[in-house]
Order: sequence, then structure tokens, then C-alpha cells
Amino acid sequence: MAAGRVVNRWTEVIPGSAELICLELMRPPGNWNIDTVDAEPFFAGQRRILLASSGIHDPENLDDSLSRGAYSALEAALTRRPEEILEVVERAGLRGMGGAFFPTARKWRAAALEPGPRYLVVNAEEGEPGVFKDRHLLEDDPHRLIEGALISAYAIGVGQVYVYVNGQAHLSSYRVGRALEAAHEHRLVGDGVLGSGFSCEVEMREGGGGYVLGEESVILESIEGRRPEPRFRPPQVVEYGLWGHPTVIDNVETLSRVPAIISGWLGFGAGISPTEVARTKLVCVTGDVQRPGVVEVPFGTTIREIVVNMAGGPLDGRALKAVLTAGPSGKIVPPALFDRPLQPGDAEVLLGSGNLIALDERRSLLDVARRLARFNADESCGKCTPCREGASRLAKMIAGSADSESLKSISHELLEIGDVVTSASLCGLGRMAANPILSTLEHFSPAQIFETRRS
Ligand SMILES: Cc1cc2nc3c(=O)[nH]c(=O)nc-3n(C[C@H](O)[C@H](O)[C@H](O)COP(=O)(O)O)c2cc1C
Ligand code: SF4
Repeated sequence: MAAGRVVNRWTEVIPGSAELICLELMRPPGNWNIDTVDAEPFFAGQRRILLASSGIHDPENLDDSLSRGAYSALEAALTRRPEEILEVVERAGLRGMGGAFFPTARKWRAAALEPGPRYLVVNAEEGEPGVFKDRHLLEDDPHRLIEGALISAYAIGVGQVYVYVNGQAHLSSYRVGRALEAAHEHRLVGDGVLGSGFSCEVEMREGGGGYVLGEESVILESIEGRRPEPRFRPPQVVEYGLWGHPTVIDNVETLSRVPAIISGWLGFGAGISPTEVARTKLVCVTGDVQRPGVVEVPFGTTIREIVVNMAGGPLDGRALKAVLTAGPSGKIVPPALFDRPLQPGDAEVLLGSGNLIALDERRSLLDVARRLARFNADESCGKCTPCREGASRLAKMIAGSADSESLKSISHELLEIGDVVTSASLCGLGRMAANPILSTLEHFSPAQIFETRRS
């Protein structure tokens, strides 16, 4: 199997962090035996459902996927009424894994109630530095995603699915493209899916790549061929999406969980309960750790369990200073919160789309906050004033603070501007842009923010 070499854009934000090679990093260093791998620290504590055969199966071979049960959940779902599928996904409690954790079935049901035609868009953009869990799924198991998207399309009454892939993730688009070709040849996609009365086309679209490109209404603008900027809402996209028609946009991981929910409900496959499938999360762990990679863990797992136990903690016994959760517009979390369970909806320790970046004692928190603030300002599309002006102002102010005294003197103004950017911006990028600065000021004193150990 060809391993996917994916260089992560995090290297642009924190220099010196290792390049990431997704598929390679699924394995602990050295040779390992598939029968004993569960005992490896990287794997112990994980609940591998989507990743159960990761690194074992061949993502470019449909027959291999079929021999492992791919598309059997779709086949079973097509014998049930769409309403039954909606109810199962609702009872499982599946929530959007793109970071907002909105109840998936509620969105599906809202679109299903609107007059057709309806569309489903798979959000495979993932343009944030340090986030690569969807890329892993796209590279490792594209048929699972296609199967999940088809089940979702059947439940909602969708006849056209678009998989919107980040244009910089070449291996992802290659693997999805090959999987779609094979699925078409086997009549898994298109007219009369699996010989049923359900017809659904699935096509791939490649975006330009970039953080704001992952925002759902920006994807719609991009597919329609317009300048990629967020739309004003209401109307919500479930009522007025692609070309003005009801549209559901779901994250790659969300849809990839659907086949296991259906097979768990009907009691075949691995027989894992639908609730357990829905309460498990992929998390990328990277930065200053010994074993960076993607782990799959139950909700409630702590930062310490992932960063220290699974990923091995900082190199050479260095102390962990902080962890950035939820990407470049996430929060800098201090050691006092490392034992807090990671849960959807926790405003203090954001789980987001599932992303932990460890910062050891050599890192200057000021440097990290400066880089993140600059990144968020640069990624602003400029459509609304609070984000365009505010994010840029925050980045300049933090860049200009020369010592802890000067930082102390501008703290109040940083908090005030941060508050405006957070509350008045049009889309999630602006609403989260101040998070790194605000959380750093909340949890660390100006002296700690300037402290660095070079040893
Ligand atoms: C700036 C920004 C970037 C985003 N990037 C992504 C992304 O790369 N992938 C994703 O699934 N959701 C992303 N989202 C969230 C989407 O707007 C949307 O909520 C999500 O795709 C819905 O799918 P889900 O309900 O399955 O999570 C982003 C949101 C914002 C504001
Ligand atoms: S919040 Fe920022 S990224 Fe979002 S629309 Fe406004 S300017 Fe653009």
C-alpha cells in the first residue's frame, strides 16, 4: 500500500514542528505485530471504530473494502424507510464532527421537510493548520465516506452529492476520485444504487484550500463559482443552499460514522452500539510530542491521556507548558486543565473538530499567540468590519508588545477588542479569532507569557 505523505501546514505556523506523514504516523515507531498492537501506548485507551482496519486494508481496492463489509450498511439501509434511518441517527445522538456538534439528524430532517431538489455536500476542506483527521479518513477509507454519504442522501431524499475536497490535499482527492470511479463501475453510485429504486450521483469538487473555505456557506459560493465568502444568514443553508435549494453540509467524520451506526442498529459487522459510535471522536495530536498522529477516543478522554499517554508527551522529558485545542482559533489550555474530560460544548477546553497541539517549555507563549493572531488576521476574508479590522488590530498589538510590562499595559484593550471581534463578526472565523490571545491572557501571567526555556 502506498503511504500518504502529507505535509501539514502547521509547519508554517510553528516553525520547527515536525512534518507530518499521516498514514505513517498511524503506527508507533518500529515494527509492530497486529495481534499485540493494542498493548502499544499509542493504541491503549483508544476506541478504534473508523480506524479499526486503518493501515491494514488497501484504500485503493474496492474488492478489499467489500470483503471487509463496505456497503453492507447501505444495502441494509435501502430496505428500510428513510424515516427509520433518520430515527436511528437521531437516537444514536450523532453530532457534527466538524466542530460545532450540531445534532446531525435535526439538520437532515429540516432539509427533508423542504421541497426538492435537495443537495448533500461533504465538507472535506479541512484547511486549518494542525488538523488532519478528515484527510486521514479520505486517504485511508474513502469507501466508508461514500457509503455514509449515500445513506444520508437516502434518508434526506437527495439525488446529488458533492464531496468538496481541499485543493492542496492531493492524495485525498486522488483516493476519493479512484473510489468514486470504482463505485460507479460497481453500480454503488448513480442510477439504481445496488439495484434499488434509489438513484444518487456523487461528484468531487476541489476547492482552493484555506481556512475560511471550510465554512459551510463559503463552500456553497465556491461550488456555484463565486468569490469564496460567507453568506449572511438567515436563510439557513438547509432551506436555501446550493442554487437556492435545500442543502445539508456534513463533515467527513460525521458521515463516515453513519455506516457503523446502521450496522450496529441492525446487529451486524462489529456490533458496536450506535450510541457508542456517535460518542467517539477522531483527534489529531501533534506539536511537541513523541508520537504525533490521529487517535480515536471516546468523548470524555482527557488531554493528558491523549497527549502524554498515547502521544508520549514532549521529547526528552521536557515539561509540557500548554496545549492548543481546536486549531489556530482555539484556546491555549494550561496544565491545570489537562485532566478535564474533552466533551462537545465545553467552552473552556474546546474540543472543536478534534485537534491538540502540545507546546513544551521551550515555547514562548507570546510567540505562539503572535503567530496564531497573525494567521487568523491573514485568513480573514475581509467581508465584515469587526473581523477584518479587529483581528488585524489584535495581531499588530500583540506583535508590538516588547516585554511583560508593555503586555500588561495593553491587556485591557486586547480584551475589549477581542470581545467585539468575538461577538460581532459574521462567521465563525471572526467569532473565534481572538481565542488564542484571550485564553493566553486568562490562564497565564504576563511574566509566564514571556518566559522561554531554550535547554
Ligand atoms: C472558518 C471556518 C472553517 C471551517 N472549516 C471546516 C472544515 O474544514 N471542515 C468541516 O467539516 N467544517 C468546517 N467548519 C464548520 C462548517 O461551517 C460546518 O459547520 C460543518 O461542515 C457542518 O458539518 P457537521 O455538522 O457534520 O460538523 C468551519 C467553520 C468555520 C467558521
Ligand atoms: S468573520 Fe472574518 S472571515 Fe468571516 S465573513 Fe467576516 S471577515 Fe470574513
